[in-house]
Amino acid sequence: MKKTIDPPLRLLLVAGARPNFMKIAPLINSIDKANREREAGRRIDYRLIHTGQHYDVNMSRVFFRELRLPRPHANLGVGSGSHAVQTAGIMCAFEPVCLREKPDWVVVVGDVNSTLACTIVASKLRFKVAHIEAGLRSFDRSMPEEINRVVTDRLADLLLTPSSDANANLLREGVPRSKIRLVGNIMIDSLVNHAPLAARSRLPRRLGLKRKEFVYVTLHRPANVDDEQTLRSIAGELSRLATRCPVVFPIHPRTRKMLQRYRIDLKSGQGVFLLDPIGYLDSLWLTQNASFILTDSGGLQEESTYFRTPCLTLRPNTERPITIKLGTNKLTSPASLGADIEAILRGHRPDGKIPRYWDGRTADRILELLRGG
Ligand code: UD1
Repeated sequence: MKKTIDPPLRLLLVAGARPNFMKIAPLINSIDKANREREAGRRIDYRLIHTGQHYDVNMSRVFFRELRLPRPHANLGVGSGSHAVQTAGIMCAFEPVCLREKPDWVVVVGDVNSTLACTIVASKLRFKVAHIEAGLRSFDRSMPEEINRVVTDRLADLLLTPSSDANANLLREGVPRSKIRLVGNIMIDSLVNHAPLAARSRLPRRLGLKRKEFVYVTLHRPANVDDEQTLRSIAGELSRLATRCPVVFPIHPRTRKMLQRYRIDLKSGQGVFLLDPIGYLDSLWLTQNASFILTDSGGLQEESTYFRTPCLTLRPNTERPITIKLGTNKLTSPASLGADIEAILRGHRPDGKIPRYWDGRTADRILELLRGG
């Protein structure tokens, strides 16, 4: 009898901005492993599409190198612009890719403009969309990412959530239970895979840092860096903090632009290390070994919870409440920052637990679902 060969499962993987790369890498590892170990079942063919939302070497290429991501099959080269310009640019460039590749699934991650743009295109062409990191909600529509999350989840066919609060949010919005799967936090897969390499980071020696005796700072949200008074007041707190403890502050391009525009005089030296954006491994080392973290990043709230490093999140809300409930995260504001820093320096440090399924095996669980669906 003639043996029939199943056609491969075709996946189109979308990554565009810095926080996407560490969420796509584990999935590619799992696909490669599944293909290598395949005895029965379908081969998996994937195409990695880089939208080009982030394009500087230290916002993109360094992550490809450190995460050993393959060269993208296509780079849409969209670059920066207003939200409408960037989102529309990605949509126009992604549509022909979708039509050409005819994937079984378009896989999007996180909440950036690339996530939203590719989801809209794929849904209208009736390709199935799987959203990794679905269901997170800050309930704050002044954040562009919240709009990206809500629309992406409304359209996606498979909603892969990192924590049970995300399931509850989706159910409350009327998403059928059959579309939702709690798979865990895929970014923690990358962290677990790369922590041993991060231990070899040369950054601590270069800066003369001692474990648990420095603060790791990242800031890039428009709400913190676009308004002059807010940015000035945060910079003042950082200068004060630096008189007591070294502050390591890799600066996002948006933040650098704003510091220059407002002529805010936060200089390297005097306890502050102002750096260009750093790679993934250096960031992991800083997260694991900092005395505490001050950030407005989504990813760092989770990575610090995993490493049990105290984290002050400079935002009025978070879409990742589990990092506060279970982990080591606390919200702060420009007004309360001084007091919150003081409390941590005096030893008020939460214990923190690691949430369920933040175990380094999320990508395997996701692949299992994509193969079954
Ligand atoms: C984007 C995401 C945000 C994520 C962040 C991580 C959206 C809506 N926002 O914000 O969720 O936390 O990435 O970095 O998708 N720029 C460069 N080089 C680059 C990229 C950007 O110089 O490689 C500059 C440009 O001046 C650009 C500005 O940074 O205008 C902002 O970039 P953009 O992609 O619009 O948003 P992010 O602030 O990076």
